[in-house]
Amino acid sequence: MLKELKIPLFDLVSCLSNAMDMVNPLLVDHHKQVAYIAFRIARELGFSQEQQQELVLAGFLHDIGALSSAEKLQALHFEFDNPQKHAELGYLLLKMHKPFSSISLIIRYHHTPWQNGKGTEYNGHPVPFGSHILYLADRVAISVDRRREILDQVSGIMDKITSKTGELFPAELVDALKSLADKEYFWCDVTSNNIGPIINRVATLPIIEQGVIDLLSLARVFAHIIDFRSRFTATHSSGVAATATALARFAMFNERECDMMTVAGYLHDLGKLAVPAEVLEKPGKLTDEEYNLMRHHTYLTYRALQTINGLETINNWASFHHERINGNGYPFHQTGEELPLGSRIMAVADVFTAITEDRPYRKGMSDQSAIHVLQQMADGYAIDANVVTLLREHFDDINNARKTAQAASKEEYEHFMSASNT
Ligand SMILES: [Fe+2]
Ligand SMILES: [Fe+2]
Ligand SMILES: [Fe+2]
Repeated sequence: MLKELKIPLFDLVSCLSNAMDMVNPLLVDHHKQVAYIAFRIARELGFSQEQQQELVLAGFLHDIGALSSAEKLQALHFEFDNPQKHAELGYLLLKMHKPFSSISLIIRYHHTPWQNGKGTEYNGHPVPFGSHILYLADRVAISVDRRREILDQVSGIMDKITSKTGELFPAELVDALKSLADKEYFWCDVTSNNIGPIINRVATLPIIEQGVIDLLSLARVFAHIIDFRSRFTATHSSGVAATATALARFAMFNERECDMMTVAGYLHDLGKLAVPAEVLEKPGKLTDEEYNLMRHHTYLTYRALQTINGLETINNWASFHHERINGNGYPFHQTGEELPLGSRIMAVADVFTAITEDRPYRKGMSDQSAIHVLQQMADGYAIDANVVTLLREHFDDINNARKTAQAASKEEYEHFMSASNT
């Protein structure tokens, strides 16, 4: 149904990597730098274009399983304890999207040292050679001191890497890196503020004609990455997507629009990737500063999705979910007439899902109280009264759709958490 949406895969994945790196200034562009270095090494070694592209995507996404800011920052150390946990979780998340199955394997082993060849296996599983490229690229990227001139650092970085040849990295990869390292442009690209467009130009990723299944399944992976950072939000985006889609169906949206609504629901809280998980998990009231940080999230969703060509309508439906009919929402303070019906549906779906969920500081509301709160908000011209009426009229259908989706996500969440802890 969404076939005619032509979405550049590069835009989608780079948007996700941007959002992940927004959580801390030390991380800005980290995923892109790793993608770039891995790509250059693969090209240096004469890998096929397809393999090069896989490494770019794996670089963009490699620490996707590091859910908290503490874990993300830990991953900036040259060596650290238990790196396998985030690698395993990243693998489990990405393998759900079929076209990413080989990328997910590269990511699964992106912290496996070479150990003079023993690193071709991990716990009896074969380790893709791409994982070793990613491991090296990651170690190079984190060795760069962002406050200092890059060309002053080249020999220091190369000494450090070379001293680990055989132990951490295959000699063949270190040699490929050495020949790249002689050329200044390589280091200038790595540290360029423009690294996104540079990768886009040199690595030419295919524009994917997104069949509906593809975009839905990829967006669902995004939703898990957003939601699984805290057990309190673990099923939120799935619940919002299911509620919004059911509402859209009763509002006579066609099949294609309903699918677009599902994608919008999955992505609506994308900007929350920039909020430290520690804030999402905080028991008790947020400080003013934390609250304000949280309020950035819809703005960030909007600007992130805006970088993806072909996603304009989905973006409007996703990103205006904290706008209010009376103009008292945020961040654009749009009013009723300006807000498309899709956005008004999303706002109702978001509130309804949020208030029925448990939070660190309160229990989820009963169905009755939830309807009461929504009606009060509609009476105060905060949310669309017609959409609330639709919800009341079809309450059981819509609520069941929400519950089923959230139960499925809860099961997946628990499976991921137990698998990544073993
Ligand atoms: Fe990592
Ligand atoms: Fe939100
Ligand atoms: Fe939300």
